[in-house]
Amino acid sequence: MASAAPISAHSATHSAAPAPFEHLFRRPGVGLGSHAGKAVILAPMEDVSDEVFRKLSREHGADLCVTEFVNAEGLLRGCRTAKRKITLGADDTPTAIQIYGSNPERLAEAAVDAEAAAPSFIDINCGCWVPKIAGRGAGAGWLRDPIAMVAMAKLIVETVKMPVTVKTRIGYGPESEMPIIELAKRLEGVGVRALTIHCRTAQMGHSGAADWSYAAKAKKEVHIPVIVNGDIKTADDAKRALDETGCDAVMIGRAAIDHPWVFDECRALLDKGVHRGPPTPDERFEMCKKHLIANVGARGEPFGVRVTRRHLTGYLRGLPGASAIRKRLLFSDSLYECLAILDEERQRVSTAA
Ligand SMILES: Cc1cc2nc3c(=O)[nH]c(=O)nc-3n(C[C@H](O)[C@H](O)[C@H](O)COP(=O)(O)O)c2cc1C
Repeated sequence: MASAAPISAHSATHSAAPAPFEHLFRRPGVGLGSHAGKAVILAPMEDVSDEVFRKLSREHGADLCVTEFVNAEGLLRGCRTAKRKITLGADDTPTAIQIYGSNPERLAEAAVDAEAAAPSFIDINCGCWVPKIAGRGAGAGWLRDPIAMVAMAKLIVETVKMPVTVKTRIGYGPESEMPIIELAKRLEGVGVRALTIHCRTAQMGHSGAADWSYAAKAKKEVHIPVIVNGDIKTADDAKRALDETGCDAVMIGRAAIDHPWVFDECRALLDKGVHRGPPTPDERFEMCKKHLIANVGARGEPFGVRVTRRHLTGYLRGLPGASAIRKRLLFSDSLYECLAILDEERQRVSTAA
């Protein structure tokens, strides 16, 4: 898998016209209103945004997906997990592959491997706050040295032919000045084609409120698409985030884990100004079954069943006896048994209604 392509070999590609790209952030044929057609994107989430969940999210209105982050070193070593993460099915599009690492040259080599998997573009993770990643200079660790981050992004832009984007945070921590505005300009200057801003500092992790005003400020300074991320949980949040920031797209992470219908809800509100009602009990049971079947198809038993569990609380939310249903499902690693439990509970819920 590891590619031996020399990093300098691609510089010639920059004389060519840039690959079409901006259309990925705009739904075709939707033209009315300031939010109409703006993309709603499934966030990269480790152990969540895999092929199965990307498909499911897309079926429910996600316009664009990003893979789980892929370790550059793992990719270059030909590690099986990394290979699986960059393998995109024919209908898995538009999807970006996200890579992370701390060494610019190795990241650039990994970007060449990722490019060979034919994603829509390559995204560089400069936002992961987890100490074992950021502490080693990868992910949000790059925010400690914005100049090095820009140089790394430049190298990757010059190495691959396809568009390169960056996902980052507003800064490393409260002690430093938030570098995102200047950083956005510099990243645009070296050819980064879009920027996703998770509007928290690295030190905040996932706590505290996301401050979308930084995305608004960055958007004013650059011409590339800016994607606002952080705390977008509902269609109303998505609309408000676009209103307040003028950004080109919203990215949704945790809310989608529990409620992939959020994408359809966003589309309905952004494109048509309509609030879509919550999913029916039948739709909730169907989602559980579909996700279980797809995960077992992709990963086998018992793993496929286990990885679906984190979604089930959300899928079942609001149903009478939801927590009892979830507890029953917790005790089985068998797809057959889980499907039988779901059918039985569905019957119970519909008779009680
Ligand atoms: C379980 C989980 C895994 C994540 N993995 C990644 C990742 O691989 N790459 C990345 O850029 N961000 C990752 N994130 C961060 C999300 O992409 C997103 O920036 C963050 O959750 C804020 O958005 P939200 O409020 O919509 O969840 C992850 C978040 C969660 C909850």
